[in-house]
Amino acid sequence: MALSVVILAAGQGTRMKSDTPKVLHEISGKPMLFHTLDAAQAVSDDITVVLYHQAARIQQEIEALYHNIRFHIQDAENFPGTGGAMRGVATQHDRTLILNGDMPLLTEASLQLLAEGEAEINMSIILPERPYAYGRVVIEKGRVQKIIEDKDCTPEQKQIRHLNAGVYCVSRHVLETYIPRLSNHNAQAEYYLTDIVQMAVEDDKEVHPVIVEEREFQGVNSKLDLAHAERFMQDRIKAGLMMQGVSMRLPETIYVDCRASFEGECILENGATILGESRLIRAHIKAHSVIESSQIEDSTVGPMGRVRPDTLLKKSHIGNFVEVKKSTLAGVKAGHLSYIGDSIVGEGSNIGAGVITCNYDGKSKHQTVIGKNVFIGSDTQLIAPVTIADEVMIAAGSTVNKNIEKGSLAISRAPLKTVRNFFYKFFGKEA
Ligand code: UD1
Ligand code: CA
Repeated sequence: MALSVVILAAGQGTRMKSDTPKVLHEISGKPMLFHTLDAAQAVSDDITVVLYHQAARIQQEIEALYHNIRFHIQDAENFPGTGGAMRGVATQHDRTLILNGDMPLLTEASLQLLAEGEAEINMSIILPERPYAYGRVVIEKGRVQKIIEDKDCTPEQKQIRHLNAGVYCVSRHVLETYIPRLSNHNAQAEYYLTDIVQMAVEDDKEVHPVIVEEREFQGVNSKLDLAHAERFMQDRIKAGLMMQGVSMRLPETIYVDCRASFEGECILENGATILGESRLIRAHIKAHSVIESSQIEDSTVGPMGRVRPDTLLKKSHIGNFVEVKKSTLAGVKAGHLSYIGDSIVGEGSNIGAGVITCNYDGKSKHQTVIGKNVFIGSDTQLIAPVTIADEVMIAAGSTVNKNIEKGSLAISRAPLKTVRNFFYKFFGKEA
């Protein structure tokens, strides 16, 4: 089915109380408009985004990630409102799905459902227990008669439970004939897209109600709405992953970015946070660990481990309070309290407790290269740039500021002094 999509995203989003445009606020790692774009791309090859407020910024962010999206700038000064937003929008196909940019929870399946059939207009309707400030939909004999905006309703009309969810699928006739005819004679002096319904009815055209799932069509207008949408999106992402075979302990405490991917049998313990485009392959992420834009393969992290961007862990173990950044570890154990940054560590190497790679000299970052089967004693500082060859042992407490040859022992340590009976002299007690 050839279908065009128009996404309305020109509104100001005042209630977000933010300098960031509403539709660029993120949900599960992605601006909410991008979730809508992804659903749109699954059903259409002709997508137009309508912009006005902060148009340049939004367009730039979209173009950085998506191709073949068209933009239309609304003449919002002269034609405010959802109907004004559709004025002059050109589409390629016979039917057009009109979406809102602040509905990040829309799914491909719901869009397919709305696009079905031949009615002049298919419109999305939600049916909550109690009506709220959405447009009320008057339905008679299974056909929609009109939509009355909340601000234009009489007290009786306010009781109507069928609410306009704000998503429509319309024919070319509607776009070409009714949109130009809209007027702004209403409580808000705006051009209401909803008035196309009454026009179609007056022309004896069919307006078909499609009852949709309320949560999926909930618009995000405030940071509270954003938090609710985030929770719903998280539940959806995690449910999908568990069905795919990922184990989650107390899933309600786990956060997973929508861009993260999982292969093989993975385990996420409570409090695990998986951010960015992370790739987990047979990984076990223990309680309260954070993984950010990294690949974890046949490895365990945590509890309370932190893996920062551009890390590759293979057959390795990262323990509590170990932070790894921009490093590659293959067959490595780092069990406790370490910082490994800008490093490459070879197979069979063991990083003792409290080992620090000093990767920053105050001006720039430097690399640490550690070979195979290296034993690094506890509390060692490796001052980068530095290379430790294979089969080296470094004694605990060493400060390593030059390269170490294969097979050597490196030890830097002030000699230990002891003073007999010092304790008793100091505290004035008998030995
Ligand atoms: C609209 C519907 C209402 C429905 C509700 C559901 C109209 C007149 N009313 O309400 O019946 O219950 O959606 O959410 O359509 N936008 C523009 N340009 C504008 C104004 C809005 O592009 O000039 C965009 C917004 O960015 C947003 C969408 O249109 O993505 C909906 O706008 P919003 O103000 O939230 O909808 P309402 O007018 O409150
Ligand atoms: Ca409005």
